[in-house]
Amino acid sequence: MSPHHPSRHTPHSSSGSQPVRKQTDSPSKHAGRAPHRPRKTRQGWQRVSGWYDSLVGNTGSIFHRNVAIPIVSELLSVTNGERVLDLGCGQGALFSALKSKPVEYVGVDASSALITAARNRHPSGTFIRADVGRLPRSGIVDHSFDAVVFLFSIQDMPDLAKAIATAAQASKPDAKLVVFMTHPAFRIPRQSGWEFDQGRKLYYRRIDSYMSELSIPLRPHFRTKQPLTRSFHRPVGIYISELVRHGFHIDRFKEIPYHAPKNEKNSAMKRAEAEIPHFLALRARYRPIGDRS
Ligand SMILES: C[S@@+](CC[C@H](N)C(=O)[O-])C[C@H]1O[C@@H](n2cnc3c(N)ncnc32)[C@H](O)[C@@H]1O
Repeated sequence: MSPHHPSRHTPHSSSGSQPVRKQTDSPSKHAGRAPHRPRKTRQGWQRVSGWYDSLVGNTGSIFHRNVAIPIVSELLSVTNGERVLDLGCGQGALFSALKSKPVEYVGVDASSALITAARNRHPSGTFIRADVGRLPRSGIVDHSFDAVVFLFSIQDMPDLAKAIATAAQASKPDAKLVVFMTHPAFRIPRQSGWEFDQGRKLYYRRIDSYMSELSIPLRPHFRTKQPLTRSFHRPVGIYISELVRHGFHIDRFKEIPYHAPKNEKNSAMKRAEAEIPHFLALRARYRPIGDRS
């Protein structure tokens, strides 16, 4: 998830016979081919950690509570004694959802401020400060986890191959990998937005760029002038190719709309929100290369 927690774009209709540009993730003059800037990204998350911690709180933001946590929990379907590794755990929203279950949870995040917040909020959890590309041998034993999760974090990680290689290295054979993210085909920060077609009275998604991998600077909220973190856009096929390359077999794939609130009066917007997915979730099983029975 970007620090712009995936928000609902409120439409404003306008007149004219041509499709009219609506509230948008405005096209960026900053977005460019994805350079790898892990250090800067970590610093970014350090700087927005206070804001992010208060947004997510103890039990998660509205997007965690209403959509992400229920779906991740369903895909994980943990059983007694399972070990769960949460990569890019932030201040531990997933831990809150799992703490009543008989599982052993380990959260990893590159931001020391968010790891401190996680430890303060959830003293019974295990939280390790590390880059996903360089997990400490002391805390994480190879092939010892039954499940690995990226909850709103994989799009914030500059090196996808390393992140997935780490997930593979941590996974036991047949372990579950669960990824929950903002849908890369329809919600590309600064490169997509709602528009309204006056003739057909329809909202539709405008996509300016999809195939190019992008490193997109983000501001945590509209009061902040400077971009502080980055989101890394990749087409869906890149995620799938990397998973397959590292021995993961996808067995669940969900595209999830963000349903407009019940009091939404605009029927065109209601339809658009229901038809165009906001999130993508998938589950894969780890079958080590050479063990493809
Ligand atoms: C949008 S937050 C999501 C946090 C949490 N999973 C949640 O749902 O609230 C993205 C997180 O990814 C972490 N992150 C980004 N790059 C990372 C990396 N290379 N290694 C470890 N964590 C990273 C950031 O520090 C941040 O906490």
